[in-house]
Amino acid sequence: MCSSIAKAAERLHETRPMVLGPFYPASHPQQVSADLTRLIGRSGRALGEVVELTGRVLTVDSKPVVGARVEIWQANAAGRYVHSGDDNPAPLDPNFTGYSYQTTDEQGRYRFLTIKPGAYPAGDYIRSPHIHLDVEGKVDRLITQLYIPADAKMLAQDRTLQHDLWQEQGPVPRVIFGNWTRGGSTLEKGAASCEFDIVLSDG
Ligand SMILES: [Fe+2]
Repeated sequence: MCSSIAKAAERLHETRPMVLGPFYPASHPQQVSADLTRLIGRSGRALGEVVELTGRVLTVDSKPVVGARVEIWQANAAGRYVHSGDDNPAPLDPNFTGYSYQTTDEQGRYRFLTIKPGAYPAGDYIRSPHIHLDVEGKVDRLITQLYIPADAKMLAQDRTLQHDLWQEQGPVPRVIFGNWTRGGSTLEKGAASCEFDIVLSDG
Protein backbone atom coordinates (compact mmCIF):
# COMPACT_ATOMS: atom_id res chain seq x y z
CA MET A 1 0.00 0.00 0.00
CA CYS A 2 2.67 2.44 1.04
CA SER A 3 4.86 1.55 -1.96
CA SER A 4 1.98 2.01 -4.41
CA ILE A 5 1.32 5.46 -2.93
CA ALA A 6 5.01 6.29 -3.30
CA LYS A 7 4.98 5.13 -6.92
CA ALA A 8 1.88 7.17 -7.68
CA ALA A 9 3.59 10.24 -6.22
CA GLU A 10 6.49 9.88 -8.69
CA ARG A 11 4.25 10.29 -11.74
CA LEU A 12 4.91 13.52 -13.58
CA HIS A 13 2.41 15.77 -15.30
CA GLU A 14 2.58 15.69 -19.08
CA THR A 15 3.84 18.91 -20.59
CA ARG A 16 0.89 20.76 -22.06
CA PRO A 17 0.59 21.11 -25.83
CA MET A 18 0.55 24.64 -27.19
CA VAL A 19 -0.15 26.08 -30.62
CA LEU A 20 2.41 25.70 -33.42
CA GLY A 21 2.10 29.40 -34.30
CA PRO A 22 2.48 30.98 -37.74
CA PHE A 23 6.29 31.18 -37.89
CA TYR A 24 7.50 27.59 -38.04
CA PRO A 25 10.47 27.82 -40.46
CA ALA A 26 9.49 27.34 -44.11
CA SER A 27 12.94 25.88 -44.85
CA HIS A 28 15.69 24.44 -42.73
CA PRO A 29 19.46 24.87 -42.84
CA GLN A 30 21.46 21.82 -43.92
CA GLN A 31 23.59 22.06 -40.80
CA VAL A 32 22.51 23.08 -37.32
CA SER A 33 24.41 23.56 -34.10
CA ALA A 34 23.43 23.45 -30.44
CA ASP A 35 24.82 27.01 -30.31
CA LEU A 36 22.22 29.24 -31.98
CA THR A 37 24.17 32.38 -31.06
CA ARG A 38 26.72 31.76 -33.85
CA LEU A 39 25.92 30.67 -37.36
CA ILE A 40 28.11 28.06 -39.01
CA GLY A 41 30.55 29.85 -41.34
CA ARG A 42 30.07 33.32 -39.86
CA SER A 43 32.25 35.10 -37.32
CA GLY A 44 29.61 37.35 -35.73
CA ARG A 45 27.41 36.67 -32.81
CA ALA A 46 23.67 37.08 -32.28
CA LEU A 47 22.49 40.18 -30.44
CA GLY A 48 20.78 39.77 -27.10
CA GLU A 49 21.10 38.08 -23.74
CA VAL A 50 22.64 34.61 -23.96
CA VAL A 51 20.72 31.75 -22.34
CA GLU A 52 21.74 28.15 -21.88
CA LEU A 53 18.57 26.14 -22.40
CA THR A 54 18.77 22.61 -21.12
CA GLY A 55 16.51 19.95 -19.73
CA ARG A 56 15.42 16.35 -19.98
CA VAL A 57 12.74 14.60 -21.96
CA LEU A 58 10.96 12.21 -19.60
CA THR A 59 7.96 9.91 -19.51
CA VAL A 60 5.24 10.39 -16.91
CA ASP A 61 6.98 7.57 -15.02
CA SER A 62 10.16 9.69 -14.81
CA LYS A 63 12.07 7.55 -17.30
CA PRO A 64 14.45 9.38 -19.64
CA VAL A 65 13.49 9.37 -23.31
CA VAL A 66 16.75 8.57 -25.08
CA GLY A 67 17.16 9.75 -28.67
CA ALA A 68 14.21 12.16 -28.63
CA ARG A 69 14.44 14.91 -31.24
CA VAL A 70 14.06 18.36 -29.64
CA GLU A 71 13.55 21.12 -32.21
CA ILE A 72 13.32 24.79 -31.29
CA TRP A 73 12.48 27.97 -33.19
CA GLN A 74 12.14 31.50 -31.91
CA ALA A 75 12.19 35.22 -32.62
CA ASN A 76 15.44 37.17 -32.29
CA ALA A 77 16.13 39.62 -29.47
CA ALA A 78 14.12 42.31 -31.30
CA GLY A 79 11.10 40.05 -31.67
CA ARG A 80 11.51 39.17 -35.36
CA TYR A 81 11.37 35.70 -36.92
CA VAL A 82 13.26 34.57 -40.00
CA HIS A 83 10.00 33.93 -41.84
CA SER A 84 8.48 35.58 -44.89
CA GLY A 85 5.12 35.84 -43.12
CA ASP A 86 6.51 37.93 -40.25
CA ASP A 87 5.61 41.56 -40.96
CA ASN A 88 7.04 42.89 -37.69
CA PRO A 89 9.18 45.92 -38.73
CA ALA A 90 11.81 44.99 -36.11
CA PRO A 91 15.20 44.17 -37.69
CA LEU A 92 16.47 40.72 -38.60
CA ASP A 93 19.77 39.72 -37.01
CA PRO A 94 22.27 38.51 -39.65
CA ASN A 95 23.84 36.23 -37.05
CA PHE A 96 20.68 34.55 -35.87
CA THR A 97 18.17 32.26 -37.55
CA GLY A 98 16.49 31.12 -34.33
CA TYR A 99 16.31 27.47 -35.35
CA SER A 100 18.01 24.26 -34.30
CA TYR A 101 17.42 20.72 -33.11
CA GLN A 102 19.27 18.25 -30.96
CA THR A 103 18.83 14.63 -29.92
CA THR A 104 18.61 13.66 -26.27
CA ASP A 105 21.44 11.69 -24.70
CA GLU A 106 21.39 8.58 -22.49
CA GLN A 107 19.89 10.61 -19.64
CA GLY A 108 17.26 12.09 -21.89
CA ARG A 109 19.07 15.44 -21.76
CA TYR A 110 19.19 18.16 -24.41
CA ARG A 111 21.15 21.42 -24.42
CA PHE A 112 21.17 24.62 -26.50
CA LEU A 113 22.86 27.97 -26.22
CA THR A 114 20.54 30.67 -27.52
CA ILE A 115 19.40 34.22 -26.81
CA LYS A 116 16.36 35.54 -25.04
CA PRO A 117 13.71 36.23 -27.67
CA GLY A 118 11.91 39.57 -27.73
CA ALA A 119 8.18 40.21 -27.50
CA TYR A 120 6.41 40.79 -30.82
CA PRO A 121 3.09 42.15 -32.07
CA ALA A 122 0.32 39.73 -33.05
CA GLY A 123 -2.50 41.89 -34.40
CA ASP A 124 -3.88 43.95 -31.53
CA TYR A 125 -1.91 42.28 -28.75
CA ILE A 126 1.70 41.42 -27.89
CA ARG A 127 3.12 37.91 -27.77
CA SER A 128 4.95 37.48 -24.50
CA PRO A 129 8.52 36.25 -25.23
CA HIS A 130 8.71 32.49 -25.77
CA ILE A 131 10.56 29.68 -27.52
CA HIS A 132 8.69 27.09 -29.58
CA LEU A 133 9.49 23.40 -29.25
CA ASP A 134 8.58 20.34 -31.29
CA VAL A 135 9.57 17.18 -29.42
CA GLU A 136 9.49 13.76 -31.06
CA GLY A 137 10.00 10.74 -28.84
CA LYS A 138 9.66 7.08 -29.78
CA VAL A 139 5.85 7.14 -29.70
CA ASP A 140 4.79 10.65 -28.70
CA ARG A 141 5.09 14.01 -30.39
CA LEU A 142 4.53 17.27 -28.55
CA ILE A 143 4.41 20.83 -29.84
CA THR A 144 4.66 23.36 -27.06
CA GLN A 145 6.23 26.66 -25.96
CA LEU A 146 8.60 27.73 -23.21
CA TYR A 147 7.89 31.20 -21.85
CA ILE A 148 10.39 33.77 -20.64
CA PRO A 149 9.36 35.07 -17.20
CA ALA A 150 7.30 38.23 -17.71
CA ASP A 151 5.04 40.43 -15.64
CA ALA A 152 1.46 39.37 -15.04
CA LYS A 153 0.07 42.18 -17.20
CA MET A 154 2.09 41.03 -20.22
CA LEU A 155 1.01 37.41 -19.73
CA ALA A 156 -2.64 38.32 -19.20
CA GLN A 157 -2.93 40.29 -22.46
CA ASP A 158 -1.24 37.57 -24.58
CA ARG A 159 -4.33 35.96 -26.11
CA THR A 160 -2.33 33.12 -27.66
CA LEU A 161 -1.01 32.13 -24.24
CA GLN A 162 -4.44 32.54 -22.66
CA HIS A 163 -5.90 30.30 -25.38
CA ASP A 164 -3.31 27.62 -24.59
CA LEU A 165 -4.18 27.85 -20.89
CA TRP A 166 -7.93 27.66 -21.42
CA GLN A 167 -8.43 24.93 -18.85
CA GLU A 168 -6.62 26.87 -16.15
CA GLN A 169 -8.06 29.16 -13.54
CA GLY A 170 -5.96 31.58 -11.52
CA PRO A 171 -2.31 32.51 -12.04
CA VAL A 172 -0.23 31.28 -14.96
CA PRO A 173 1.37 27.93 -13.98
CA ARG A 174 5.08 28.39 -13.23
CA VAL A 175 5.94 25.24 -15.16
CA ILE A 176 5.61 27.05 -18.51
CA PHE A 177 8.70 29.14 -17.63
CA GLY A 178 11.12 26.37 -16.70
CA ASN A 179 13.69 27.06 -13.98
CA TRP A 180 15.66 30.23 -14.73
CA THR A 181 18.92 31.11 -13.00
CA ARG A 182 20.69 34.38 -13.64
CA GLY A 183 24.35 33.68 -14.43
CA GLY A 184 23.66 29.94 -14.15
CA SER A 185 25.10 28.81 -17.50
CA THR A 186 27.82 26.15 -17.41
CA LEU A 187 28.72 26.92 -21.03
CA GLU A 188 29.25 30.67 -20.84
CA LYS A 189 30.26 32.82 -17.89
CA GLY A 190 27.56 35.28 -16.92
CA ALA A 191 24.88 33.80 -19.17
CA ALA A 192 21.54 32.76 -17.72
CA SER A 193 20.38 29.18 -17.61
CA CYS A 194 16.93 27.78 -18.07
CA GLU A 195 16.12 24.20 -17.12
CA PHE A 196 12.99 23.02 -18.92
CA ASP A 197 12.00 19.38 -18.60
CA ILE A 198 9.54 18.01 -21.12
CA VAL A 199 7.22 15.20 -20.07
CA LEU A 200 5.70 12.91 -22.68
CA SER A 201 3.03 10.34 -21.93
CA ASP A 202 4.86 7.20 -23.03
CA GLY A 203 8.08 8.59 -24.42
FE1 LIG B 1 6.14 32.60 -31.52
